[in-house]
Amino acid sequence: MEKSMNTSDDFRDKAMIAASSKHRDELLFSYKGILYPSTICYPETFKALESFEARRDDVILAGYPKSGSNWLSQILTDLIAISQKKTPGSESTVNAEEPRLIPFIEMGNLEKYERMTKLPSPRFIATHLRPENLPKSIFKTNAKILLLIRNPKDVATSYYHFSNGLPLLPSYETWEDFFTDFMTKKMAWGCYFEYLSEWNKYADKENIMTITYEEVKENPALSVKNIATFFGIPLTEEQLQLVVERSSFQSMKKNSDKTHGSFGNILFRKGGVSDWKNLFTEDQNEKMDRAFEEHIAGTKLGKKLKYDLYCKA
Ligand code: A3P
Repeated sequence: MEKSMNTSDDFRDKAMIAASSKHRDELLFSYKGILYPSTICYPETFKALESFEARRDDVILAGYPKSGSNWLSQILTDLIAISQKKTPGSESTVNAEEPRLIPFIEMGNLEKYERMTKLPSPRFIATHLRPENLPKSIFKTNAKILLLIRNPKDVATSYYHFSNGLPLLPSYETWEDFFTDFMTKKMAWGCYFEYLSEWNKYADKENIMTITYEEVKENPALSVKNIATFFGIPLTEEQLQLVVERSSFQSMKKNSDKTHGSFGNILFRKGGVSDWKNLFTEDQNEKMDRAFEEHIAGTKLGKKLKYDLYCKA
C-alpha cells in the first residue's frame, strides 16, 4: 500500500494548509448535533453519504477516533490483498493509475463517491461515524462491519496528544481543559460514551464483529485469524505471520513516512496500553469511572472493554 497513499497525502496536505488560516473556533462544525473537523468533512458530503450504495462484500471498519483505526486498516487492507491472491505490500497490490482514496467514508469531497462506484470489490471502508449517521444501505445489504473499541482512558489520552499535534483539531493548553471537553461532548465525532451506547444497539448482529484494541495488542496473531475468519478470508500460517509482522507498531511506525507522510509522526505515538496513568488525576479517574458506570458498564460493549483490568490503577 506504500505508493497508494498519494491521494490521502494530497488531501491531508491541503487540509493542513486550510487549517493554518482558521481560527480555533472554526476548526470544528456541527452536523446533526455532532462536531466534525471542518477542513476534512463537509455538510454536502454528509448529505450525499445518505444515498451512498454499500455492497454486500464491502469490508467496513468502524471505530471512535484514537481507538486504533489506522492499525486495523493496515490489517484489513493486507487481508483484502490476500483474498485477491496478492502479496501484501508488493507492487501488485498498488494500481498506480488509481491512487487510493482516503478510506474514511465521511472525509473528502463529493467526487469521492463517484470514484468509489468504480472500485473493484471488496472495497475497504473505514469510519468514525455513529451507526445512525451511516448510509442506510450498509445495514440493508448486511455488509460485514468490524467494530473496534478501546478503553476510554487511553482513548482520551491519545486524543489529547493527537489534538495538540494535528493542526486540523483545536489544541489545548492543559490536559485539564481537554478532559473537560472530552467529558462534555465537545470532541470531533462526538461523545465517546454516546458512540458506544449507539453501537451497542448493533452489537448482537451477526454481521458485526467487535474487537478491542487491548485484545489485538495482547494476541495479534489470534486477532488477525479471527478477523480473517469473520470476513471469510482463508490464510496460510505464512500469510498470517506476514500480516502480523507488517502491522506491528514498530513496522508501521518505521514505514510511516511512506504510508502516512508527516502525519505518521503524530499518529504513531506510543501504541500501548495504560498511558493514561501518566495524565489522569485522582479526581479525573473518579469522574471517568462514574461516567463509564453510568453509561456503558452494563452493556455488551462495556463488558468487552474489561474496564477494571485496563482502567483501574
Ligand atoms: P497512542 O496515541 O496511544 O499511541 P487511530 O488510528 O484510531 O487514530 O488510533 C491511534 C492510536 O493507535 C495511537 O495510540 C497509535 O499509536 C495507535 N497505533 C497505531 N498503530 C498501531 C499499531 N500498529 N499497534 C498498536 N497501536 C497502534
